[in-house]
Amino acid sequence: MRISILKGFADVYPPEVKIWQKIEDTAKGLFALYGYEELKLPVLEHTELFHRGIGGDTDIVEKEMYTFTDKGGRSITLRPEGTASAVRCYIENQLFNMPSPQRFYYYGPMFRYERPQRGRLRQFYQIGCEAFGVDHPALDAEVLVMIHNILTSLGLNSLQLELNSIGCEVCRPAYRIALIDFFKGRLSHLCADCNRRYGSNPLRIMDCKVPACIEQRQGAPVIKEYLCEDCAGHYQRLKTILQEMGLTYRENDTLVRGLDYYTKTTFEFTTDLLGAQKAVAAGGRYDRLVEEFGGPATPAVGFAMGMERLVSLLKDRVSLERPTFVFIASLGEPAEKASYRVAGQLRANGIAATVNFGHGSLKNQLRKADRLGVTHVLIIGDNELSRGIVNWKDLRNGKQGECTLEEFIKLVR
Ligand code: HAM
Repeated sequence: MRISILKGFADVYPPEVKIWQKIEDTAKGLFALYGYEELKLPVLEHTELFHRGIGGDTDIVEKEMYTFTDKGGRSITLRPEGTASAVRCYIENQLFNMPSPQRFYYYGPMFRYERPQRGRLRQFYQIGCEAFGVDHPALDAEVLVMIHNILTSLGLNSLQLELNSIGCEVCRPAYRIALIDFFKGRLSHLCADCNRRYGSNPLRIMDCKVPACIEQRQGAPVIKEYLCEDCAGHYQRLKTILQEMGLTYRENDTLVRGLDYYTKTTFEFTTDLLGAQKAVAAGGRYDRLVEEFGGPATPAVGFAMGMERLVSLLKDRVSLERPTFVFIASLGEPAEKASYRVAGQLRANGIAATVNFGHGSLKNQLRKADRLGVTHVLIIGDNELSRGIVNWKDLRNGKQGECTLEEFIKLVR
């Protein structure tokens, strides 16, 4: 019986993997320009990290985590996101002693047991960043401009930046009361989860995906009207900086995000090209999380973008043309031996190469080269060996000639 891949998981292989590499390279290049350094974080963490970090009432923690008991009887969870782990690492390794702001990025698979659909997987890759130690809205703006730069460097110019502020522990109690008031008469129309959330964390009702709950929250009070002076000032300054930097945004009063740790700024870069899954990159400020996890009071802001969603958007745009790759066809045993040496010399000069592995007619070898999709073929026979030259052909434009190996190396480089 053939064993197939798990539902909601995906293999990535050539040629599409080239789009992945292009996104990785572009993001890492820009992160470096903004002073971000990499964190390599574990895929498994104590379940409690996500309970406390993301919040027990969220869809992610309530329904979507891959949680199991390990052989030592501990409850462990495949990470559904990267921020909680980054904060744990920040505190555990005292990275707060580095000069501030401390800027980090991470890249890797995340796991959420969601119903798979276009743009939504159970294992998906995020590339994201977290910046610690500065509460100034200029840092929020810098992160937003950096994401915009990554997207436009990839040729994605039409994404919409949606922006909101969800306040802090000072302004949220009044908003909470307003929500409780609003939903009081609608409880029988809300799902069971939201009925529970009504008592524990009514803000989460604003993020429920159940159609009846979406309908019931039409006309609900918006957090913007309840912001305290500090949060309102931060939001206003952020908008002013963004205007000065020329980054357009749309205010979205209902953008509350599906994770509990956010304070003040929340944002999403969205598209209509991926059906129901609109967010390509998302994040916000979380000024309380480091302290809640036992670290020193440290403001922070960050984001993550979904690789699969980016890849979908880029599928038709990134050129999948192969970089230089040389196939060495050889005729006769002495030439076959020489082909191994020639391949070594090409690779030593940074040029990808493969040999034919064994004998074959020239016709068969050329057919093989064609199927491999190489860019160049080198032909070596007794004649070329005795004259110390190679015979080359560029398969992309049909040009051909003969020259020494050194000249050929110069030519393709
Ligand atoms: P998030 O909004 O849950 O935020 O995820 C960020 C991005 O990951 C989404 O915008 C989407 O592109 C991608 N994503 C999420 N779930 C899936 C899925 N099931 N399949 C495919 N792609 C998905 C966070 O995870 C926060 N940790 C972001 C953050 C960092 N906030 C502050 N710092």
